[in-house]
Amino acid sequence: MSGLLVLAALLPFAVGQLVGTNQAENHPTMTWQKCTGTGGNSCTTQSASVVIDANWRWLHQGASGFTNCYTGNTWDASICPDGKTCAANCALDGADYSGTYGISTSGNALTMKFVTVSQQPNIGSRVYLMAPGSQTAYQTFQFANQEFRFDVDVSQLPCGLNGALYFSQMDADGGVAKSNGANKAGAKYGTGYCDAQCPRDIKFINGVANSAGWQASPNDTNAGTGTMGTCCPEMDVWEANSVSAAFTPHPCTTQGQSTCTGTSCSQPNSTQGTCDQAGCDFNSYRMGNTAFYGPGKTVNTQQKFTEPGSLLSPFLSPFPSNHGGSVVTQFIGNPINQIKRFYVQNGKVISNSNSTISGVSGNSITDSFCAAQKTAFGDSNTFSQKGGLAGISKSASAGMVLVMSIWDDHAANMLWLDAPYPPNKSASSPGVTRGTCSPSSGAPKDVESNNANAQVTYSNIKFGPIGSTFAQGSAQ
Ligand SMILES: *[C@@H]1O[C@H](CO)[C@@H](O)[C@H](O)[C@H]1NC(C)=O
Ligand SMILES: *[C@@H]1O[C@H](CO)[C@@H](O)[C@H](O)[C@H]1NC(C)=O
Ligand SMILES: *[C@@H]1O[C@H](CO)[C@@H](O)[C@H](O)[C@H]1NC(C)=O
Ligand SMILES: *[C@@H]1O[C@H](CO)[C@@H](O)[C@H](O)[C@H]1NC(C)=O
Repeated sequence: MSGLLVLAALLPFAVGQLVGTNQAENHPTMTWQKCTGTGGNSCTTQSASVVIDANWRWLHQGASGFTNCYTGNTWDASICPDGKTCAANCALDGADYSGTYGISTSGNALTMKFVTVSQQPNIGSRVYLMAPGSQTAYQTFQFANQEFRFDVDVSQLPCGLNGALYFSQMDADGGVAKSNGANKAGAKYGTGYCDAQCPRDIKFINGVANSAGWQASPNDTNAGTGTMGTCCPEMDVWEANSVSAAFTPHPCTTQGQSTCTGTSCSQPNSTQGTCDQAGCDFNSYRMGNTAFYGPGKTVNTQQKFTEPGSLLSPFLSPFPSNHGGSVVTQFIGNPINQIKRFYVQNGKVISNSNSTISGVSGNSITDSFCAAQKTAFGDSNTFSQKGGLAGISKSASAGMVLVMSIWDDHAANMLWLDAPYPPNKSASSPGVTRGTCSPSSGAPKDVESNNANAQVTYSNIKFGPIGSTFAQGSAQ
C-alpha cells in the first residue's frame, strides 16, 4: 500500500485546480497613481490591470474540455466526488470581460455592469487589482498612516445594490503557495478570495474544491455553500449605492487568510468565529444625519460633473469624465488609531458628517467611537472583541488586496446598508434605519429584473501618505 502511494506521488499527472485553455485570459488594463508630497499633484502613474474572481469563471473538466464541473449551483458528482479529486479534474478558464461579465476599463476607470446577458445572464462581479506589470500577483496596499482616494459614480446604483471598494487580506499569489501545488491557476485567474464574513460560497480554497457537503442555495440559482469557509480581515473603504454609504473595518483574530469549517466559520455572536462580521460601520444616515448623503443632499449622489480642476490641471485627471465625486479615506497613525472620511465635490472638500446620536460623538472611526456606537445601538462590540483598530492596523501593515465589486444581497436584501434593519426591530429604534429605502426593497429577483442596467464606475485611484492625494484645506 505504501509502495503504491509513493508510486502515485511520483506519477506526473496533474494534481490540482487547472488552467483552462478554451479562452485566453487577458486582464483589462487600469492605471492608478502613487502620490508623494501634498495636495494630489505629485503622483506617478502605475500601469496595472484587474482580474475577475475565480468563482465567476467557467469551470470545466480537463484543460481543454467542455464538460462543466459546476452548472448553476451544483457540482457534477462524477467529476467532483471529493474536493481534491475535483481540483485535479477541473480547470478555470479565461474570461470574456465585457461580453460575459460587463466589465470594462478605460485609462484610470473601471465600469462594472450589474446584469449582462450573453449566453446566460451574469449577475454582478468582483475584481482584484493586479500589481503593476504582473500577471500572477495581486497589488497589496500597506495603508497604515496612508490615504486612499478614488472617484465613484453611484448615480446608477439604486436600493438593494452595492458598489463596494475594499481591502481584503488575501494572499498576493491567490493562495498558490498554501496549496502545495494543487492550485495551478492562482492570482492570474482570481483565486484566493476571503473576507470577514468567512464566505462558504467560494468554490476552491487553497487548491481544494469546496464541493464536499455543498448545498445549493434555495434562492440563488448561481450559488451555494460548502463545508469550508475562508476568513480574513477586511477593510470596507466603500459600500454604497445612490441612497446610502458606509465605511467599515472588520478585524479577525487570525491575520491573513484562514480556512474554517461549518457553522464555526461565521457567527454573528461575539464569542464565536474568527472575524468581526458586523464590523464598526460609519453610515452617515445611521449616525443621525439624514440630509448628508444621497440624491440632492450635501454629498449629491445624482450629480454628474467634471472633477474641479481637471480641465485646468493636467495633474488631477488626465481623463476628464462624468462622475459623482471623490472619496478620500485617511488611515491615521501607525498603528492606525483613526479612520477619517472626506468627500470632494464641485471644487469643495466636504468633511464627513458628525454623529448626532446621543452618546456618540465625532465623524470618524476610532475604538471609542465604536464602543459608544455599539452601546447606543444595543449591539455587542464584536469589533473590539476581534481586535479593534489595532487588529486592522496589523493587516494594513502586512498589506491587503484591493477588491472592487457590484452585487445584490441574497441574505438580507442589502437592508443593512440602505433601509431599516433588522426587520423585526422598530425602524425608529436607534441604529435601525440606515437609509431611505423601503423595508421591502432589495430582493434580488426584483433588482435583477427592474434594475438590470445598474452599474458603477470607479476611477482615478490615488494612494500615498496622509495629505498626498488631495488638498484638505480647513476640512476636519
Ligand atoms: C452569544 O454568546 C453569548 C455569550 O457571550 C450567549 O449568552 C448568547 O446566548 C449567544 N447568542 C447566540 C444567538 O448564540
Ligand atoms: C462637527 O463637530 C466638530 C466638533 O464638534 C465641529 O468643529 C464641526 O464644525 C462639526 N461639523 C459640522 C459639519 O457640523
Ligand atoms: C436565501 O437563502 C439563504 C440560505 O442559503 C438564507 O440565509 C437567506 O435568508 C435567504 N434569503 C432570503 C431573502 O430569503
Ligand atoms: C429578531 O430576529 C433575530 C434573528 O431572526 C432574533 O434572533 C431576535 O431574537 C429577534 N428579535 C426580536 C425582538 O424579535
